[in-house]
Amino acid sequence: MDRPISTTLHDFTPATKAFYDDVVAGLNRRPRSLPCKYFYDERGSQLFDQICDLDEYYLTRVELEIMRQNADQMAKQIGPGVMLVEYGSGSSVKTRLLLEHLQSPVAYVAVDISRDHLHQNANDLARQYPAVEILPVSADFTEDFDLPVPTDVPTHNAVYFPGSTIGNFEPDAAQAMLAKIVSLCGCRGGLLIGIDLQKESSVIEAAYNDSAGVTAEFNLNLLGRINRELDADIDVDQFEHRAFYDESLGRMEIYLVSRTEQTFVIGQESFGVAAGETIHTEYSHKYTIAGFSELASRAGLTLRRHWTDGQDRFAVLHFAVLE
Ligand code: TRP
Repeated sequence: MDRPISTTLHDFTPATKAFYDDVVAGLNRRPRSLPCKYFYDERGSQLFDQICDLDEYYLTRVELEIMRQNADQMAKQIGPGVMLVEYGSGSSVKTRLLLEHLQSPVAYVAVDISRDHLHQNANDLARQYPAVEILPVSADFTEDFDLPVPTDVPTHNAVYFPGSTIGNFEPDAAQAMLAKIVSLCGCRGGLLIGIDLQKESSVIEAAYNDSAGVTAEFNLNLLGRINRELDADIDVDQFEHRAFYDESLGRMEIYLVSRTEQTFVIGQESFGVAAGETIHTEYSHKYTIAGFSELASRAGLTLRRHWTDGQDRFAVLHFAVLE
């Protein structure tokens, strides 16, 4: 039977309505899950920045080190006259390294879901790189979106996809995402992508279970965001963070676990969870270079070059679109 829709639901913006629908659908699914793209509200973005500064979270630091040491070669590999399209542009520290080394780049397209971050950053970049047309696109890159048309014609397009965000997709979805990048870039296109490498599980697990509890707070903030935005009454303290590495699947699995049997309301829907019941929030897949190249080749990409740190913790790979 249909329930009456409350006035608050009527007041939701389309974006909030989509968030609501995704949350309700995820919590009604078995096993229960919440989509990881909703981690990054203002508080979530702040907490993620803090995660990136943690000793245990090696990913950001190591990727940046790889970029610092090899940006010149990466820029050569990408080639002159490019329109560079970045997915999940965030703070663009790594992008600046590329922009400084690229030969006469035509345009830089920053694609990000978070509008505020995006425009602030675009203004800064425009000031810093007056010769490059800076084109911010506020979009969810997991959905289809149109590329803006730059004033000058680029020789080719290249996507820059740092942060090992591709690891947050399950392999089939990652392949589909790469196939979308291929069609977006077209012929002569390229992809520069960061991936976290498979390694000793204790190192990986520590990155998602930091001793200061920032990652736990980041994960739990998703419930806080639901309370703040979706007219919900979840007792966040009655949930805890759980993250472990599944070596056979090569992935971190991240959950919110209910400490007790409890019920809560989100808009018009009520939910009951058992003590110890889990809500899945994210996977973070770790790859080998060979394994990732294999997946990318199924999407129409061929590996041209790659760079790693001295301890093979992280890799940045350059692919060309197969002719
Ligand atoms: N993309 C990041 C990663 O997979 C996101 C992340 C870091 C994350 N720590 C987390 C997501 C903890 C959920 C919970 O490394």
